Amino acid sequence: MAEKILIIEDDTTIRETLAEVLEKQHYIIHQAADGAQALKLIKKHNSDLILLDLRLPDMHGLEVITKIREFDHHALIVVMTAYPEIRTAVSVLKAGAYDYINKPFELEEMKELVRRSLETQQLRTEVERLRISAAQPAPIEGFIGDSPPFLEMLEIIRKVAAAGRVPVLIRGESGTGKERVAQSIHNLSQRADGPWVTLNCSAISEGLLESEMFGHEKWAFTDAKTRKRGLLELADGGTLFLDEIGDLALSLQPKLLRAIETQIFRRVGGQQEVHVDVRFVAATHRNLEAMVQVGAFRQDLYYRLNVATIDVPNLRSRQDDILPLAHHFLKQAAITIGIHNAQLDPSVYKLFKAYAWPGNVRGLRNVMERALILSGGAPIIATHLPKEIIASTLPKTSGSFEYLTLAEVEKSHIQRVLMTNDGNKSQTAKQLGITRLTLRNKIKQYALDFDDVN
Ligand SMILES: Nc1ncnc2c1ncn2[C@@H]1O[C@H](COP(=O)(O)OP(=O)(O)OP(=O)(O)O)[C@@H](O)[C@H]1O
Ligand SMILES: [Mg+2]
Repeated sequence: MAEKILIIEDDTTIRETLAEVLEKQHYIIHQAADGAQALKLIKKHNSDLILLDLRLPDMHGLEVITKIREFDHHALIVVMTAYPEIRTAVSVLKAGAYDYINKPFELEEMKELVRRSLETQQLRTEVERLRISAAQPAPIEGFIGDSPPFLEMLEIIRKVAAAGRVPVLIRGESGTGKERVAQSIHNLSQRADGPWVTLNCSAISEGLLESEMFGHEKWAFTDAKTRKRGLLELADGGTLFLDEIGDLALSLQPKLLRAIETQIFRRVGGQQEVHVDVRFVAATHRNLEAMVQVGAFRQDLYYRLNVATIDVPNLRSRQDDILPLAHHFLKQAAITIGIHNAQLDPSVYKLFKAYAWPGNVRGLRNVMERALILSGGAPIIATHLPKEIIASTLPKTSGSFEYLTLAEVEKSHIQRVLMTNDGNKSQTAKQLGITRLTLRNKIKQYALDFDDVN
């Protein structure tokens, strides 16, 4: 976009000549013959550069600079003066001008000064932009992950957070971090200072849920001895998080839809309309679309919620996040339990990465807490982990556990110990109470599959 330059000069010849020359350079030029007119134009046009004559009929240039700076910190000001006193130069720079040029000046000289000034202007804008984006906080402290799918999701969170009151639907498997995502949206939005209210639609019965959500009037039902404000009212000015929206009773869905669309609702047992300003963020691990198809969820509500959708990737699809998350949860658990220096032994890294983590991030957190309790502070190794994590890396055996042959058990066990030792044979042999030679023979006999270290 072309840059905008305002020329403030009472001498018509100089002003118009300058305007003509600079217009040819493809700048957008505005002109003012006195201070008052100049101030009006600046407010209107947001100039990038101002060329200012010091001697104006209605006010002194210094005064103009001060007045401009009261509301505009963007425009660069270059002063043109026929009185090249050092004192003047110092005072205009002090007042907030960027540079000055002595009159009379060569047009070429002026063109060059304009070009340089605007270049500086652009750099300043760029630096400012970088400063702002660097100052943007992480969505929430401790929201861990830097795998590509996770970063992609953060990017979407940022955009959605900035999108006013648009309803948001968060989808993802259980334990992937949907609530965390919802909170991040609130924290990064303009409503961050407003209330953050959560309501779990699956936790309470239909009747109670309605009065939880919308509140009730006195005597709306037998137990309602006083008027009660619902969570919708409590969330006024902020965000209402509707967790497990897929479990919301069909009978309540029209009322919720209306509240989302109009920001108006009635308390249970009430006639009076209540107006609120609430952003709705909903989450579910269910397939709402499929539910709509079988009539278990209203289509209109689904469409209303499905404007901004965030799909939270499961942990399997972001393997790079597993270990950082594991270390993070271990550290947290260590603080809670009061253990210093809790550590994850590198021998389990491979197990962690190979496991499918059906419980996702929450599952990983539970595993870490349990492992730390079992290890009592010693580095965490395979024996501190649930057996399904270890089993998942073992070759599949025929039949169920009850019918394993002794040889199969031996094979599995050797494989497991080898795995936890990262393929180190001396260590494995030692732990198994056999010689290295015996171990080598067994490896051959069972055709065990592992990364050979030594
Ligand atoms: N990226 C992450 N970094 C750190 N902690 C996380 C991250 N994602 C999730 N968690 C933590 O994992 C746990 C589960 O997250 P959350 O409750 O948000 O999941 P959810 O998808 O809502 O699960 P559910 O479907 O079971 O309700 C929480 O303790 C949360 O703080
Ligand atoms: Mg949840």
